[in-house]
Amino acid sequence: MPSRFEHVPLAVFQSSADASKAVARDIAALMRERQAEGRQAVLGLATGSTPLGLYAELVRMHREEGLSFANVVTFNLDEYHPIQATHPRSYCHFMHAHLFDHVDIPRENTHLPDGSVPVAGAEAHCAEYERMIESAGGIDLQVLGIGRTGHIGFNEPGSARRSRTRRVTLDPLTRRDASGDFGGVENTPRYAITMGVRTILEARRIVLMAWGQHKAEVVRAAVEGPVTAQVTASFLQEHDQVRFVMDQAAAGALTRFRTPWLIGALADQGLEWDPGMMRRAIIWLSQQRKKAVLKLTDDDYNEAGLGDLLRIHGSAYEVNLAGFYQLQHTITGWPGGRDPKRTRPGDAPVRPLHAPSAGVFPKRILILSPHPDDDVIGMGGTLCRLVEHGHAVHIAYQVSGANAVSDEALMGILRFVGDAGLADAQAAGRLKSIFAAQQSQGALPDTPEVVGWKGVVRRQEALAAARVCGVPESRLHFLDMPFYHASPGSRRQLKAEDLASMRSILAEVRPHLIFAAGDLDDPHGTHRLCLHALRDALSELFREPWVAQSELWLYRGAWSEWSADEIDMAVPLSPQEVLRRRRAIFCHQTQKDQALYLGNDRREFWQRSEDRSKRLAETYNALGLAEYEAMESFKRYAPENFIRDLPL
Ligand code: F6R
Repeated sequence: MPSRFEHVPLAVFQSSADASKAVARDIAALMRERQAEGRQAVLGLATGSTPLGLYAELVRMHREEGLSFANVVTFNLDEYHPIQATHPRSYCHFMHAHLFDHVDIPRENTHLPDGSVPVAGAEAHCAEYERMIESAGGIDLQVLGIGRTGHIGFNEPGSARRSRTRRVTLDPLTRRDASGDFGGVENTPRYAITMGVRTILEARRIVLMAWGQHKAEVVRAAVEGPVTAQVTASFLQEHDQVRFVMDQAAAGALTRFRTPWLIGALADQGLEWDPGMMRRAIIWLSQQRKKAVLKLTDDDYNEAGLGDLLRIHGSAYEVNLAGFYQLQHTITGWPGGRDPKRTRPGDAPVRPLHAPSAGVFPKRILILSPHPDDDVIGMGGTLCRLVEHGHAVHIAYQVSGANAVSDEALMGILRFVGDAGLADAQAAGRLKSIFAAQQSQGALPDTPEVVGWKGVVRRQEALAAARVCGVPESRLHFLDMPFYHASPGSRRQLKAEDLASMRSILAEVRPHLIFAAGDLDDPHGTHRLCLHALRDALSELFREPWVAQSELWLYRGAWSEWSADEIDMAVPLSPQEVLRRRRAIFCHQTQKDQALYLGNDRREFWQRSEDRSKRLAETYNALGLAEYEAMESFKRYAPENFIRDLPL
């Protein structure tokens, strides 16, 4: 359903998998149509994480449905510069690994900018690339992703509408987003060769795909914002055959989803004023007007187009109270429920009230931490509180986290072992050869042994942090899920062993409450796969009686926070609890200062955790609720809803 806020046609799918299949069908239809006409189909292709599902589906259609690429010609958008085609991170390598090597496309029909041309020859090479596109008859269908800078291809902010294929400097944010693939920002290319904005706009049809919440803001800017070189994807608004295809998470910031009342009556949009929508509108209005919820007036509601709420509830006073109580009921200092023995007459009711295991005390609780530090970063204060309240708190670390340990950090420990004389003669010999390899190659070898040691370092850090939180070692479970160790360049996928380890920890603990990371914006998708694994394991265990009794709470980690209207439980922390959480996060020493995956945000993890939880407390306070030092927040799912609704 289009809205007057949107300047391009778009389609929103439940999941990126569904959306990728729809785009694949579209491309296949074009290919078959051209085949029937005896003509070539010219495709413009993108790389990155976005088109992976599309390419997988095209490969499947080739294998299972006989879709032929014999009449297809391709031009890729871009390539890093300088880079050799054989480099495992080159886009050329990517295209072969994910598409070209698995279909019957004639190799001479595939084109990418050449990352190995000398700088002096780049201009001529780019002009030649444009000529090749032209002599192929131009691009029939251009596939695009969108970067968090709003780039299409590598047309970073500032790229002109008339720009052509050229060598460009990458934006620092783009480099940081790519840094995980290259083992740190220092090793990430600074330049690239990219088709220009004009080259892209000359394609006859364009489809831009976007998945995930981390793209939501930039998608909104491109779809609803002005046409500007600051967001080069916004130039697509000027194309008359363009379509944006996205999943719900990437569409989440569009007006039609975030503030649908601005578009028109909810009923006309197939929506209703349920308690969730009402809370969202009240919080939005309170923040717009910079007024506590209980101070909003009839005029505030009417002027903001929220007169509907007054009609339904009678007056601003009634709406305010309903919204205020909803918010207040999310706050609880008893995240696992209250000990009936410690409840006195006159105590406030235990909130939230709806847990199926509300009467059970103490509870069995399983905290799932994708990496070994997500538990304390995302919910360290709540974790300590659950332990203090006497619950049986288990923590399962889903992946080893070895990839985020720098060589330098491991070298320090290995040198200590050597210098302190803790290695016998044989081990000392081995250490020596490892140091020599590090010296000559500039990096530690990526052997299973070295990766294993890095995992051990993270395990020790997690043990130390758990000690700070009072969780005994017997309740810590290191799952080391194998998907995390996929070889570089290959796509990470959950395998049977990953699910088996999830199933067995769930069956062992039979938790009343599960806390899992619902932070899906970590740079490499590890959190997403970890949550996938939980969903798949739970759906297999669905018939177990304990699952129906259980409840799932998603916390957010280092990358983003729930917005106030999504929160089902907010746990206030005292200043002492904030400090204790900080101590627990500090135990993850290899993730300080030189952490490999800080991403776009340069603050360290403990700072993010503190800023985030303090900001949330301020948000609640500004809405007119009590003033706390900090708060951690959670979103609730009953397992059946989780299995059905999770936007993965
Ligand atoms: C890739 C490209 C880029 C990406 C964009 C999104 O060929 O041109 O514009 O489409 O950076 O990257 P992902 O999909 O990895 O989020």
